Amino acid sequence: MSIVELKGIYTAYEGGEKAVIKDLSLRVERGEYVVIGGPNSAGKTTLLESINGLIKITHGSASVCGLNVSSQADEVRRRVGYVIQNFYFDPFTPFTVEQVVMMGRFGRLGLMNRPGRADYDAAQRAISLVGIEDLAHKTIGTCSGGQQQKAMIAHNIAKEPEVMMLDEPFSNLDFVAREYLQGVFKRMVRTGVPILMVAHAFDGLPDIPIHLVVMNQGRISYDRNCRAEEVEGIIRKECGVSENARVADRK
Ligand SMILES: Nc1ncnc2c1ncn2[C@@H]1O[C@H](COP(=O)(O)OP(=O)(O)OP(=O)(O)O)[C@@H](O)[C@H]1O
Ligand SMILES: [Mg+2]
Repeated sequence: MSIVELKGIYTAYEGGEKAVIKDLSLRVERGEYVVIGGPNSAGKTTLLESINGLIKITHGSASVCGLNVSSQADEVRRRVGYVIQNFYFDPFTPFTVEQVVMMGRFGRLGLMNRPGRADYDAAQRAISLVGIEDLAHKTIGTCSGGQQQKAMIAHNIAKEPEVMMLDEPFSNLDFVAREYLQGVFKRMVRTGVPILMVAHAFDGLPDIPIHLVVMNQGRISYDRNCRAEEVEGIIRKECGVSENARVADRK
């Protein structure tokens, strides 16, 4: 069984009349690096939220890690890492970066248990993997946007998820951080954890086969493996953006 298996799903937001995602099917296997592209409002974030059980699936079936997303959403969320697209910490949020990363362990721990050695170790490993040791004692609300993004990536790495989903994780990151973190995700993929990444920029993708999913108006229009350097061209073609527009962009 695939680690993510969506069959003919439709999803609609609360109070929304129309389905945002329409008759969408997708399989993701262990160790795949999935890039999800497509224009604004295509339904990319909604797709991730469907996988994570955050939005109601009105038709079709979804299973993640062998669990039914509709009836076992809490357990699915414990096993899936999800770095959301837009987040904002109030400047007075009292938690340090280290505490925020540690919170990534809470799903495994359960409410009544105190973190143990293994939890502290996992949090420290995530902090050093993402390279934010210097931020550990800074309060999250006083961090820059990029620093907060790194902290949320570390939080999700500390979780030791079975599937890692990231929604434009690089939007606030400088190119050094982007390249470095791409290396981190490549290593996660090697250990079998699939990455599902929504992105609009494709520089620095790892040189491994990419499972490319292109979305358009709530549907998948492309779902195949390709090479990293082909990703942008395929998305442009799928979305009807011509080479001429690309040249005009640069002028
Ligand atoms: N909370 C919500 N309630 C109602 N409709 C929503 C909600 N969130 C998103 N939508 C609608 O669902 C559609 C898909 O939105 P989604 O956020 O999934 O797009 P996206 O592909 O992630 O776009 P972007 O690249 O801008 O992030 C849009 O038409 C949007 O207006
Ligand atoms: Mg989005």
